[in-house]
Amino acid sequence: MAPSDEAFSLVIFGASGDLTHRKLVPALWTLFASRTLPEPFTILCTARTPMSDDAFRAKLKEGVKEFARFKLPNDQVWQRFAANVFYLPGDPTAPEFYGVLRQRLEELERARGGPRSRLYYLSTPPSLYADIVVNLGKAGLNEEESGWTRIIIEKPFGHDLSSAQELNRLVTKVFREEQVYRIDHYLGKETVQNVLALRFANGIFEPLWNRNHVAEVQCTVAETVGVEGRGGYYEESGALRDMIQNHLLQIVCLVAMEPPVTFDADAVRDEKSKVMKAVRPIEPDAVEASALRAQYGPGFVNNRQVPGYRQEKGVKPESTTETYAALRLLIDNWRWAGVPFYLQTGKRLAKRVSEIVIRFHRTPHMIFRRGLVSVDPNLLVIRIQPDEGISLIVEAKEPGPDLKISPVTLDFKYHEVFGGEPPEAYERLLLDAIHGDATLYARGDWIEQAWRLTQPILDHWATTPGPLPEYEAGSWGPTEADAFIARNGGKWRRP
Ligand code: BG6
Repeated sequence: MAPSDEAFSLVIFGASGDLTHRKLVPALWTLFASRTLPEPFTILCTARTPMSDDAFRAKLKEGVKEFARFKLPNDQVWQRFAANVFYLPGDPTAPEFYGVLRQRLEELERARGGPRSRLYYLSTPPSLYADIVVNLGKAGLNEEESGWTRIIIEKPFGHDLSSAQELNRLVTKVFREEQVYRIDHYLGKETVQNVLALRFANGIFEPLWNRNHVAEVQCTVAETVGVEGRGGYYEESGALRDMIQNHLLQIVCLVAMEPPVTFDADAVRDEKSKVMKAVRPIEPDAVEASALRAQYGPGFVNNRQVPGYRQEKGVKPESTTETYAALRLLIDNWRWAGVPFYLQTGKRLAKRVSEIVIRFHRTPHMIFRRGLVSVDPNLLVIRIQPDEGISLIVEAKEPGPDLKISPVTLDFKYHEVFGGEPPEAYERLLLDAIHGDATLYARGDWIEQAWRLTQPILDHWATTPGPLPEYEAGSWGPTEADAFIARNGGKWRRP
């Protein structure tokens, strides 16, 4: 193929890790095989372990076989893809390595032709981010000589507010904000993006989308998995840092934001930042009332016996790290004043399900006789995964001579309407970064604001001794979670 203006190089740091193996390369392969990846391209992977290009490619092929949405059709197509993938062993903390990296990159780019557009992907442990960014800068690899230069930074972006601020400062010394792509893979999920389509491509919801009609919003991300060999990481993280500070707050912003003027990166991200600024800060003395944490004990998940969190590998037997967290937020603006937003997430829960539930106010006056009718309020349920779709739950008359009313579900299922599997989040996000569209990436100010909001909770929890409330693995979380939401008259929807 002739070199095109779209030619680019992707440099993956931390390439021997799980993310490259399970997500990044399978996503790149699927884009390539479905002819959406711009060509020609060069993928240069680097990690400490010495390995040849061929040995590395063989390893990647296993990952692609197991995890890619687009199954390997035949070896020829794979060979065409793999011929553009290279491996360079090296120590990312050593400044000398960047000279070697530059040389190899230039060599490959010369052979490939086309502009020297470069996308760096930091998929290493976060403790290496600073070194890599500084070293890229020192080696001049941040410059845009011919073509563009961008950098994707994996989560977690910081461990708390001050480390996130420090990292932002450091990164924006070396790269301009427009070059920085802070990834949150939830924003790449089709159904998360569909929140925007639902709200802004339909006229009927906007008049209802406010405190006059909405009584409460719930966002749940429930997982059945435990810490999956990541005990060491999770001990330092916990559910609030791992899921709420990023994924769930992003979802809240998409639900709560004002309509942006256009669908471009700054317009969308300005509106999301405004939501974050309007979220009422949780003062230290309000943490107990606004947040709940718990830890899973032993139990059964999908009929399989599983250990409790404290028995997991890499976890301290006296650990007080939360594996479940719930939060109650209020957004102090004209649209949402007084509407509670409840967020919850947990590992080893009864079912893998992520959804947003918009609960509307009850009818102002009930004309039907009590006892005959259901008095449940209408719900709009946006199912993020699995069984992606949207349901509207309305009241309907049951057939028959009596007036009996019960809830029915108007259901839209992605797979029934569109068929097939929805694209993986990483496919969309990688492609966007290659095309220079940061709409679905987190901006620096948003990340800091999200840390600002969660910091008092983290501080309070760090100084409040355990033990934490425990929930049985395979349950819907701690019993305290019911009382937590009931204070506002609500209850968690259990899908
Ligand atoms: C990651 C968290 O960001 O998201 C994991 O670190 C979590 O702990 C994962 O399991 C969930 O992502 P998904 O796409 O499987 O819902």
